[in-house]
Amino acid sequence: MALKTTTTNMVPAFLAMAVMNATKALEATGADVIHLEVGQPSSPPPPAVNRALIKALDDVSTHGYSVAFGEWPLRQRIAGHYADWYGAKVDPACIAVTPGSSLGFALAFLAGFDRGDRIAVATPGYPAYRNLLMALGLEPVLMPARATEGWLPSLEELVASGEPLPDGMLLASPANPTGVVMSDDDVRDVCIWCHKNGVRLIMDEIYHGLTFGGRPTTALLHSDSVIVVNSFSKFFSMTGWRVGWAIFPPDMLDTVERLAQNMYIGPPRPMQAGAIAAFDDYAILDAEAARYRENRDILTSRLPQDFLGDMAPSDGAFYLYADISKLGMTTPDSIGMAEAMLNETHVAVTPGVDFDKAEGHRHLRLSYAGSTADMKEASRRINDWLPSYLRQVGSSAAE
Ligand SMILES: Cc1ncc(COP(=O)(O)O)c(C=O)c1O
Repeated sequence: MALKTTTTNMVPAFLAMAVMNATKALEATGADVIHLEVGQPSSPPPPAVNRALIKALDDVSTHGYSVAFGEWPLRQRIAGHYADWYGAKVDPACIAVTPGSSLGFALAFLAGFDRGDRIAVATPGYPAYRNLLMALGLEPVLMPARATEGWLPSLEELVASGEPLPDGMLLASPANPTGVVMSDDDVRDVCIWCHKNGVRLIMDEIYHGLTFGGRPTTALLHSDSVIVVNSFSKFFSMTGWRVGWAIFPPDMLDTVERLAQNMYIGPPRPMQAGAIAAFDDYAILDAEAARYRENRDILTSRLPQDFLGDMAPSDGAFYLYADISKLGMTTPDSIGMAEAMLNETHVAVTPGVDFDKAEGHRHLRLSYAGSTADMKEASRRINDWLPSYLRQVGSSAAE
């Protein structure tokens, strides 16, 4: 007799991770793979972070459970970060330290919405938002972000669709996969609009710090009802540490705390002891951000312009969203092209279908979080390989 399984089995795989697995298999054969597929800094966290972790490991009390919202000194330190960077006053009681921002999203979705609620998300967008929403019985409402509109989703279009307004909206700035940064005015306007219309806004600010035109504003300055999610993964170079944070409005705290207790008891405690030192030296981290900017400039100046196509302006994060539709292929196929590129040049990139089911066959995401030498070598390999690939697929642009 067939045993029951749940509908969460239907949750799609995260293709970027599948590409990472394929690259690992290739590397096991001795291939020298350049990783432009996964959004993960190649640099370590600041040395103070490692020292704080090592010191904490000698203290037996750090090996126990943490309380659900995390250790109070870290929450205070995060509140201090908002004062330093944004001039924002944040009550540490509203800050939940989470196992990566990924669990911050899960808390926000579970505490903010009921089954069947509709949540607007930008497309292309980070696939785990959509996939997790569906796993939790929530309905993602896709808001297209197109080249013609500066790669930002349009509130006017959402309203004009004639559908009821969504219960929630989730936006990221800087965004993954495009690297697009919302202006401070756009952040303020969306905060005001959501608050006025009873739409619960969740702002993903995990790429803050990695913007190439100054520090953007935080949504917290413009709304009392917004949930802000952030992480030590990206700017702080601590992906594997699994520490993030989320800031909730006071009326949600009780629910969120009970959810956190039942979902994961508390965030990893030694990692929190290390993370507290992450704010001690912004200069080291700013230097990394400057390096990403240089990496971006290497890729955009060295890669063929028709390979980049109508690329989104990558003003933040560490991604280029290349538009391969200008390469003269009858049907652009980002999965096939990424596979061929990996096998024939050993450069790994992520097909756009991960981020946009409808249009993603026309895009490849390239992460420039790696070393500058890798960016130069990847550009060389792609330039050398592209003509033969275009001949193989019968492109009209083939020489
Ligand atoms: C836009 C965005 N949000 C959230 C995450 C999850 O990050 P973490 O759980 O490591 O904090 C990622 C990871 O790549 C991301 O790109």
